[in-house]
Amino acid sequence: VIDIRKLYSQTGAFTYDPGFTSTASCESSLTYIDGDEGVLLHRGYPIGQLAEHSSFMEVSYLLLNGELPSSEELDEFSYTISRHTMLHEQLATFYRGFRRDAHPMAIMCGVVGALSAFYHDSTDIADPQQRKIASHRLIAKMPTIAAMAYKYSVGQPFLYPDNSLSYTGNFLRMTFGVPAEPYEVNPVVERAMDRIFILHADHEQNASTSTVRLAGSSGANPFACIAAGIACLWGPAHGGANEAALNMLKEIGTPDKIPHYIDRAKDKNDPFRLMGFGHRVYKNYDPRATVMQKTVREVFEALKVNDPLFETALQLEEIALNDPYFIEKKLFPNVDFYSGIILSAIGFPTTMFTALFALARTVGWVAQWNEMISDPGQKIGRPRQLYTGPTERDYVTVDKR
Ligand code: ACO
Repeated sequence: VIDIRKLYSQTGAFTYDPGFTSTASCESSLTYIDGDEGVLLHRGYPIGQLAEHSSFMEVSYLLLNGELPSSEELDEFSYTISRHTMLHEQLATFYRGFRRDAHPMAIMCGVVGALSAFYHDSTDIADPQQRKIASHRLIAKMPTIAAMAYKYSVGQPFLYPDNSLSYTGNFLRMTFGVPAEPYEVNPVVERAMDRIFILHADHEQNASTSTVRLAGSSGANPFACIAAGIACLWGPAHGGANEAALNMLKEIGTPDKIPHYIDRAKDKNDPFRLMGFGHRVYKNYDPRATVMQKTVREVFEALKVNDPLFETALQLEEIALNDPYFIEKKLFPNVDFYSGIILSAIGFPTTMFTALFALARTVGWVAQWNEMISDPGQKIGRPRQLYTGPTERDYVTVDKR
């Protein structure tokens, strides 16, 4: 049925690559990954150095502009972002249409998509200035949108942004503060949260970023494109893995149950997988997981908590890394394996985990979207397929079937 020669003669080349395991969909100068060596660079800078020395605002500037900012540029950028943190007042009414038990990602998909109905000016993608404003709006409003999703779910009033705080401090206050009381941002938690945002900022052509690019390639407005990215990120094989990883650790409970779950993960008749383990590109330790593991200890110390699930996670990692199945398949902890433990210690419910990932990844999505739209050779994304259906046949009326 499939006439490969005909397809080849139409296009000059035809490849079939389900899952895009060896097909580049674009050129990009943002992020480099060497999965065999466990290397991740943003604009050339190693993720470990950025997580250690930089801030999320600085990394955002780097991803958007290609270079690290001077101190004046950083101040100006942070100030600009802080000017866009408010949401249109009518959007608060929009939240009230959701059920209180709605998943925050369901709310995020809806609210971010709805931004295009409120900020018409920045849907003009042909104007570079409007593209810039749309990017700033998205980066600035995501913490407000995510915090409001949380507040709505717990039945507390929304808090307006406090732009005297840092990007991350403001987010923590909007999430955990209450209107009648002062909220003191814990500097260790603020730093840990900022680092988590840095670790999630961009990761080249993952499923959600590719979704944003594909949606954007048709000329769709940036708010619609980012909403598409959020929808894709929600899946448990992608951004939903941090929620799934913590739920799995809770299910395992104590270290003595680990061997049973390791056996299940290896059993091909059992759909169970070790969540937070394995990666399409990393066939070595995910460098983000290393930073994440260190951050768990810092947060525990600052908050004086000691979640026994961390011990379970450490032992699970140790056992898996020494198991022939995981060694042969090169399955290592990924960024999501430890992030849930930190987020839970800070006080986030598991349903918020993927929303936090979306908040941080927005800068990567927006930077990738801008890179694509600015490319003069940009084309609509239109993959081909291998057709496996019937050959041409005549229609048969219903009385003859
Ligand atoms: N537990 C057990 N076995 C696994 C796991 C796992 N977590 N991950 C992969 N494998 C096995 C597969 O069963 C497969 O075995 P086979 O060769 O015998 O068929 C082999 O390893 C290769 O796995 P694929 O699914 O083909 O690899 P792919 O690159 O398509 O998938 C993915 C990568 C989706 C991340 C996968 O490892 C997985 O499902 N992990 C758990 C979910 C997760 O943590 N996702 C987060 C990814 S990072 C992020 O999005 C931020």
